[in-house]
Amino acid sequence: MAEDKKKKIKPLATGDKTIPPEGAKMISIYIMGREYRVPETLTILKAVEYAGYRYVRGCGCRGGICGACGTFYRYLGDYRLKTGLACQTVAEPNMVIVQLPFFPANRPNYTLEGMGGDLHGELRRLYPEVFKCVGCGTCTRTCPMDIDVMDYISLMKRGDLKGAAEKSFDCVMCGLCAGRCPAQISQFNAAMFVRRLYGRFMASKAAHLSKRVDEVQSGKYAIMLEDLTKADSDDIKRLYIEREREPDMSEPGGWMPEDTSHL
Ligand code: SF4
Ligand code: SF4
Ligand code: FES
Repeated sequence: MAEDKKKKIKPLATGDKTIPPEGAKMISIYIMGREYRVPETLTILKAVEYAGYRYVRGCGCRGGICGACGTFYRYLGDYRLKTGLACQTVAEPNMVIVQLPFFPANRPNYTLEGMGGDLHGELRRLYPEVFKCVGCGTCTRTCPMDIDVMDYISLMKRGDLKGAAEKSFDCVMCGLCAGRCPAQISQFNAAMFVRRLYGRFMASKAAHLSKRVDEVQSGKYAIMLEDLTKADSDDIKRLYIEREREPDMSEPGGWMPEDTSHL
């Protein structure tokens, strides 16, 4: 890269999120085909911000949970296409990067009301493409969450919806798998549908949750919520500071507040 071109690059684009470690080595990366010099050790997300871009889409939690920052990249001179979450993948020299914040995957309208009989048939009706999987494994190799996507698709085909729901549980809906599927399957949307079926029709009911829903519906918390919405910010701060708080290291289920009237 020519020296005069280097000088045009903004040193800091978006404040302290992109302050590089002192003495960091600069590396070249390519964002949507254009070369930028960024400090090593930044995630792709921070490197993109360092290069001067401001996120409007394609960034959410910054912690590997929301799936908004799905990214394709390859290294200069290497034919292999790679994938990652921009907030979890460290930028490396000669990465050629493009983010894919959204993938136009099949997402039919449906309601779970009225379902409950032939659940496998419902899957076939809404997502017929699932049954065209050719078993290539590209989705599994693509998934940044290390989910065996091909396997949960295969469980769906066999009618093991519980297995598919459990196997796909860590999906962050980034859509990268669908972007590479030769059978044009929307794996993540089909998996969401299957998890909904599982939650509604197969998983055993949580007694404590049903009790809480009944309490909410009976208005038990209405006055409390009304009082909170009327409180001014000083009252809210005081309530927050004075609240009974579970000790950090308490045994799961081993702690109860003294005031149980809100439970
Ligand atoms: S299964 Fe697909 S949508 Fe879900 S995390 Fe993996 S690649 Fe992303
Ligand atoms: S990429 Fe598509 S066709 Fe290939 S294994 Fe995954 S779901 Fe099946
Ligand atoms: S920003 Fe949420 S997963 Fe990356």
